[in-house]
Amino acid sequence: MIKQNVNLGDRTYPIYIETDYGSIEKCLESAKISGTIVVITDSNVDKFQCADLMSALESCKNPVYKYVIDAGEKSKNLMTIQKIYQYLMSLKLDRKATLVALGGGVVGDITGFAAATFLRGINFVQVPTTLLAQADSSVGGKVGVDFEGSKNIIGSFYQPKFVYINVNSLKTLPERELKAGLAEVVKHGIILDMEFFEYIDDNIDKIFKVNEDVMKYLTKVNCSIKAGIVEKDEKENGLREILNFGHTIGHAIESVMNFELLHGECIAIGFVGAFKLAGYMGMVNASELEKVISLLKKAGLPVRLEGLDVDRVYKQMFYDKKIKDNKLTFILPKSIGGVLQLIVDDEQLIKKVLGELR
Ligand code: GLY
Repeated sequence: MIKQNVNLGDRTYPIYIETDYGSIEKCLESAKISGTIVVITDSNVDKFQCADLMSALESCKNPVYKYVIDAGEKSKNLMTIQKIYQYLMSLKLDRKATLVALGGGVVGDITGFAAATFLRGINFVQVPTTLLAQADSSVGGKVGVDFEGSKNIIGSFYQPKFVYINVNSLKTLPERELKAGLAEVVKHGIILDMEFFEYIDDNIDKIFKVNEDVMKYLTKVNCSIKAGIVEKDEKENGLREILNFGHTIGHAIESVMNFELLHGECIAIGFVGAFKLAGYMGMVNASELEKVISLLKKAGLPVRLEGLDVDRVYKQMFYDKKIKDNKLTFILPKSIGGVLQLIVDDEQLIKKVLGELR
């Protein structure tokens, strides 16, 4: 078993990287989790992953229940949270209870938010089953829901007791979701690690085949990059903002497209936008943009969006948590492997870049 800690003082927790669910009981024991367990999953993951996890959990002494939400970003709202609270109330849980999020980013964010708020906080465990969640959203404690069309606008920081990654869960993931998750992996390379960017480029075929060794290595590097950032800036007061690379444009596209495109697809377009913007500002050269576009294409990700509505996307960008004094902030590349945060107060330039993403 590979173990990577996220060191956050008394909230330090391990990320376990495994190839099945067989060790979950041991992990619960070492986290001293003894109460009722409620697995929260979605209607897709329920069909493919839940039986294996439930049978691994049923050998534990703890009572185990399951609650299934509808799959998709459209469930990530306060109505779903209300239904989860009602279910948890019906079980008469106490504070020793644990919510286990089995699924992708949506399940993790919703479950974490419910765990953070029910009884003023109960235990939370992440079992991410998508590449997006394994690479990014299950680590670092961001939990929450969308509200009135704005992404992740209500939420909290609430760290799990542990994260348990079964890399083989990706074998049942639809290819479109695997590709979307790759966007977060590529992001890690772009923001901090040129060699990792090249490793992804060299191993793309093995990644698509979910080669166990490649996926374990990929997951280990993802988690150590993410953990390293979260340890330095848990509540996103500075450094952690670099993880929002591609998200200023990406989140706006996601909202304007009414969540019909996947998050990873939107941020991939956002990466290209960030490189173009940085190019116009003299920070990167055209060959770096070409390398990024080439890898995104190899990964099967979009690099533009036909018919992108420049004015609507531009306006939506202002409904973002990253807004500062009503000015847009961007994480922009200095190279592949290094970024910085900048306020860009130039509507014409931003609109020009958005126009080139059509
Ligand atoms: N997904 C960005 C972060 O966790 O900060």
